[in-house]
Amino acid sequence: MTTVLAASADAILGTYRRAPMELVRGAGVELFDAEGKRYLDFVAGIAVNALGYADAGLEQAMRSALDSGVVHVSNLYRTSAGERLAEKLVEHSFADRVFFCNSGAEANEGAFKMARRWARAQAPAKHEIIALRGAFHGRLFGTLAATDRPQYRMPFRPLAGGISIAERDLGELESVLNPETVAAVIVEPVQGEGGVRVLEPEFLRGLRQLTQERNVLLILDEIQCGYGRTGTFWAYEHAGITPDILTTAKPMAGGLPMGAVLMTQAVADAMQPGDHGTTFGGGPFVANVALHVFDRLHDAAMLQHIAEHGAWLGDALRAMAGRSTKIRAVRGIGFIWGLDVTDAAKDVVARALDLGLLVCSAGEHTVRLLPPLVMGRADLARGVQLLEQAIG
Ligand SMILES: Cc1ncc(COP(=O)(O)O)c(C=O)c1O
Repeated sequence: MTTVLAASADAILGTYRRAPMELVRGAGVELFDAEGKRYLDFVAGIAVNALGYADAGLEQAMRSALDSGVVHVSNLYRTSAGERLAEKLVEHSFADRVFFCNSGAEANEGAFKMARRWARAQAPAKHEIIALRGAFHGRLFGTLAATDRPQYRMPFRPLAGGISIAERDLGELESVLNPETVAAVIVEPVQGEGGVRVLEPEFLRGLRQLTQERNVLLILDEIQCGYGRTGTFWAYEHAGITPDILTTAKPMAGGLPMGAVLMTQAVADAMQPGDHGTTFGGGPFVANVALHVFDRLHDAAMLQHIAEHGAWLGDALRAMAGRSTKIRAVRGIGFIWGLDVTDAAKDVVARALDLGLLVCSAGEHTVRLLPPLVMGRADLARGVQLLEQAIG
């Protein structure tokens, strides 16, 4: 086992500093390594594994998704699972049309193209995309230009043009949103990688109003915070607004790669056949699995579970911060929380790992918690206890 791992670790490009153990099995909200050590999972594959591991319903959905014998046919032909999933997404959101793809960054790249296609029909120079301080939208050239992390961006300049970062401040946005040149503003209602910052509902409402006044599209990136994670199915519901475009991905297909761009009819009308594409997006296998995931997460009892237990988790984390001189701040909502710690976050992550708890970071001094959405009170409490030990 060890020799195989050592060889394959060398063969994989070193873009991640991976934890040393090999994860071989999962059950419920726990993972097990090759030596049989168990880990309580507060990462969920970075907000992907909403239903945890070895979920019977999800496994059944994957098995029956194979019944037709058709995993993929391309988007040259119609298949019913994708069409049904799009209908569900439209029925349960602001959107009129859906484009399926394979990841978060791909969804955002698509959203930028759609915004530009719409904008160019309004005014010839209208093309700029504005992202916010602290934003993370992906690692491809367009999305990297909309990601506010110098260390991710610098080695790869020049990035895609016409994309810039503005402060999370309505006054600044008022001065930069020129209707003649700006196509769209992209915002995560909860900034995940940027330190778990829940944007104020008043800010989002103000931004919605401003973008409407300036004829600028509002793109919400709900790749990490959507699909129930905040206790409502879409994070925008907390602010009582709707966007023009929304991107989603991570939990959509139970761990299979899938993303989507949801949009209003006005945006959809600007896109013509041939304007965008993807070989795999929305294929019958992933879409069938995603239909199951959608039904499980778009469920009143599930959303109530997340809201209730998330509120309890927030209280427990704030109480822990009250007992500790090593926690500077606690931020979050539902099942997405960040703790600013005095130590390096990576040291807390490593100590938690030793104790059998998986957590991840969101910046140098922020520990991020993203438990599977099905996690119950006892496991949440166990995680908090282990985290307190790890923080020290
Ligand atoms: C808010 C947000 N947008 C975009 C992305 C990029 O998604 P992917 O890694 O699937 O390309 C992420 C991934 O962490 C994210 O959290």
